[in-house]
Amino acid sequence: MDKGAVTRMGERKKKEKAAESVASMVKDGMVIGLGTGSTAELAIAKLGERIEKEELEILGVPTSLRSEMVAVESGIRVTSLFEHPSLDITIDGADQVDAHLNLLKGGWGSHTKEKIVSYAAKKFVICVDDGKLVDRLNKPVPLEVLTYAVKVVEAQVERLGGVPVLRRDGSRGGYFITEGGNMIIDADFGTINNPDELNIALSSIVGSVEHGIFVNASEVHVGNEDGVKILRR
Ligand code: A5P
Repeated sequence: MDKGAVTRMGERKKKEKAAESVASMVKDGMVIGLGTGSTAELAIAKLGERIEKEELEILGVPTSLRSEMVAVESGIRVTSLFEHPSLDITIDGADQVDAHLNLLKGGWGSHTKEKIVSYAAKKFVICVDDGKLVDRLNKPVPLEVLTYAVKVVEAQVERLGGVPVLRRDGSRGGYFITEGGNMIIDADFGTINNPDELNIALSSIVGSVEHGIFVNASEVHVGNEDGVKILRR
């Protein structure tokens, strides 16, 4: 097996450990938010296994069509925020987690629903492999943007000191379009020294629906070689 494949296998094992750990927090009768991404999908599948084995009654609010499909395939009954506007827990992954548990999300372009569902929950629990931990967030911040407003949002990002790049769809070569019919601008601010300040500034951008800085994680379950470490605020 080549070195890359070995690394990917190790990463998947760590994701599985973290996913299992967050899935174990769910109790019978809960209504939970279901995040998007490869780690969130593992957590949804683990939860499905528990539902079958322990005969649990769990309802889930998915944050993307993909998560909805994984939930249904895993035997999780799906509901909506209309029916259940208050959730017990939201479980999700992240692209980066800093030393203060601020998150960068939106790698899969689903951060708008993910943020809504995270704020609807009493507890927002993240599962990641230890490769996601950084001292300070430093990846570009995704902004979901109304197509009509793309150029106007780019100018506002530049005024804040960021470099905006309109996200492309890798598979089709065109632009990435979200489930909401919007586009994604990945805004590069280099190392983010003050995520709270940038969170507020990006939330004030006219034409942007939502951005990928999350400052509301309750706890982060980090899968590593030895097991899982739980980080709390
Ligand atoms: C989805 O838009 C993102 O916020 C995901 O939570 C994030 O990209 C993590 O994905 P992985 O678990 O696949 O790394």
